[in-house]
Amino acid sequence: MTSDSPTHESFPDSPVTVVSGPGAWHRVPTELRALGLQRVLVVCGANVGHLGAVQEVTAAHRDLFPAVFDQVEPDPSDRTIAAGGGLAAKLQVDGILGVGGGSSLDAAKAIAAEAVQPGWVLEQDDPGQPTQVPDEILPIVAVPTTAGTASEVTPFSVITYTATRRKGPLSHPALYPKLAVLDPELLLSAPREARVAAGMDALTHAIESYLSRQATDQTRKRSQAAVEDIARSVVEATAPEPDLHALAQLQRAAMIAGLAFAVSRLGIVHAAALPLSALFGIPHGIANAILLPHGMAFNEPAAEEDMGNLAGFLSVHSRKSAGTAMEAGTAVRQVRELARLIGAPEKLSEVGVAREAIAGMAETAALSPNLKNNPRPATVEDLQTLYEQAW
Ligand SMILES: [Fe+2]
Repeated sequence: MTSDSPTHESFPDSPVTVVSGPGAWHRVPTELRALGLQRVLVVCGANVGHLGAVQEVTAAHRDLFPAVFDQVEPDPSDRTIAAGGGLAAKLQVDGILGVGGGSSLDAAKAIAAEAVQPGWVLEQDDPGQPTQVPDEILPIVAVPTTAGTASEVTPFSVITYTATRRKGPLSHPALYPKLAVLDPELLLSAPREARVAAGMDALTHAIESYLSRQATDQTRKRSQAAVEDIARSVVEATAPEPDLHALAQLQRAAMIAGLAFAVSRLGIVHAAALPLSALFGIPHGIANAILLPHGMAFNEPAAEEDMGNLAGFLSVHSRKSAGTAMEAGTAVRQVRELARLIGAPEKLSEVGVAREAIAGMAETAALSPNLKNNPRPATVEDLQTLYEQAW
């Protein structure tokens, strides 16, 4: 533990309280008890379940943490949610603590609902229908170990349905965590590839929320701040030996982008990214990294001024790296350059996507509610072209 005074923040348009600072993880038991919780199920993946810091805290508070459900896989399935919900119900816990990347936090949210209404998650596999959440959903506390998805401050949860192979982006105000605990020291545990994927996911959130048709003055300010801070920090935060200050800056920027897109929603890149993960298991952030420059280029004719602004925000990086190979340029060019600098893949063909799948994925992506927020309307044919350009 390196600090005993993490800061508590709240934001006027968000129900989530954010506690942040190095060592904040060790305050989680105190924070949970302050929320009135007495028996909390920890939800995480196997790697996080084995982290020394996680085992230390859960072992020291066995009364508070009767069990650790460490079976969350990347892109959590309805079966995982049913198993976690069943365990939470059996143990009669009164809260859910999600610790991990977006998959674990999304799973924690869904388990909080499944625990009080068995079978709930399967009922939500109904594309186009609004998510229904039981009134008595368990309180959720979220501790991210990656700086990307911002699931800790959003009302969204992406679940993969085994039978239909659909990815259900669930969305309901009851899925907001009560509390998000941001400890940059936990980010040191993530492998470099996961930090790259998360960083590109965060950048995509910041850019898509800035361009969204539902953006407000407030969300645009947050998106701008997030783009600038991601451009400042993502290279150092994804280095093999990451800098803790850069990780903290990226973690906060990812969260701020989350506050923005919780309100503004996202756009064509996220619409097109979900089928790639559902069909080919491509990490969400990598799917975004590959599609982002193509989505921005598609949007440019409908958002010329905003794209010019984004170029200015992103150029924070080129100013910071003056003297290196990085040059200022259009927003699309700078995003490509940043992705290249951190070693993100550039083509769908590099990550195992079959070209024959493109037509089907375009049909699926065209149903995404995110397209309603995109600055330029996109048809199935536009999505097909986008995938082909990215292939
Ligand atoms: Fe995302």
